[in-house]
Amino acid sequence: MSAAAPYTLLAIETSCDETAAAVVRGRSVLSNVLHSQSVHRAYGGVVPELASRAHVQLILPIVRQALAEAAVEEKDLDALAVTTHPGLIGSLLVGVNFAKGLAIRLRLPIVPVNHLEGHIFSGLLEDPELSFPFLALVVSGGHTALFWVEDVGRLRLLGSTRDDAAGEAFDKVASLLGLGYPGGPAIDRLARQGNPHAFAIPRPLLQDPTFDFSFSGIKTSVRSLLTRLFPDGVPPEVLPDLCASVQAAIVEVLLRKTLRAVRQCRAQTVVVAGGVAANSALREAFQRAAQRRGFRLVLPRLSYCLDNAAMIGLVAHEKLCRLGPQHFRQLTFTASPLPLRSPQKRTPHAALRLLQ
Ligand code: KG4
Ligand code: ZN
Repeated sequence: MSAAAPYTLLAIETSCDETAAAVVRGRSVLSNVLHSQSVHRAYGGVVPELASRAHVQLILPIVRQALAEAAVEEKDLDALAVTTHPGLIGSLLVGVNFAKGLAIRLRLPIVPVNHLEGHIFSGLLEDPELSFPFLALVVSGGHTALFWVEDVGRLRLLGSTRDDAAGEAFDKVASLLGLGYPGGPAIDRLARQGNPHAFAIPRPLLQDPTFDFSFSGIKTSVRSLLTRLFPDGVPPEVLPDLCASVQAAIVEVLLRKTLRAVRQCRAQTVVVAGGVAANSALREAFQRAAQRRGFRLVLPRLSYCLDNAAMIGLVAHEKLCRLGPQHFRQLTFTASPLPLRSPQKRTPHAALRLLQ
């Protein structure tokens, strides 16, 4: 094993319905392999048991492919990395147990990684010069949260969604409109031809002084709008306007809350990450705001926005550099579905919660 950085890591990510493996060396991505499970489409959402079964079938070929594409052999690895939380517990357990078995066979240290921290540091994949502190907006199918990021492992949660995540709102509205799963990309596509002012969609918690979000009301408002205006089904010609109006509401709330956090934290850099950061209207709105307000915006490319293992490897590499491989010899960690481990015990104030 090499004695110091840059370390070569194999990273595994199985927190939801993507089976992913990547090889990173330092902040360079040597391979980033992903299999998006299609089995869930027929059900309109992720079926946890099917996701775990698919991970079991896919994990070995995906890991082999990641090593082959990186032209790295097992003996070249310095460490492993794996997502341990949050996520679907059955899915996480597949990745965690696979990684532990491999770590025992190869006698390698293994770095447990928080999935949200992975998304946040996909900013570092995009921009290796990214410096601390920065503000991070994580917007995905399972999470919507704003963090003040002081370093790897030192993230202060400013606020998060009280109910649905932004991606969940996209997916649920798409399901009401019969657009299939996942719904975000379909809404994004249709919205390009639509009028964002055509329908009045609420902007939940926009005036609320906290950094919390709430998106469940958007789906409810679309449902009642459909019942009221289109009881016999939505005419296809209305879809672009409807999609554009919903998208505009979600993007406006995300942008305005983030801009308030920029002002309050005097942030000079903002990272926007997670699957919803792939949304074209969101990207344009944040780019315009960054130009106007003069902060640096880091928007990872689409393949780093969606769930991937390269972001997990990168966080692990930063942790290895700070703590050293000996720190990661214990295999006693386990998977957890929860986003935060006992946050309230550390500091009762929401704005000062530390992410572990
Ligand atoms: O980060 P991700 O791959 O998985 C989670 O950790 O949740 O995010 C998936 C979410 C889904 O809700 C999907 O609808 C949304 O990201 N998404 C989008 C777009 N592409 C993916 N939402 C809006 N516009 C898009 N272009
Ligand atoms: Zn994710």
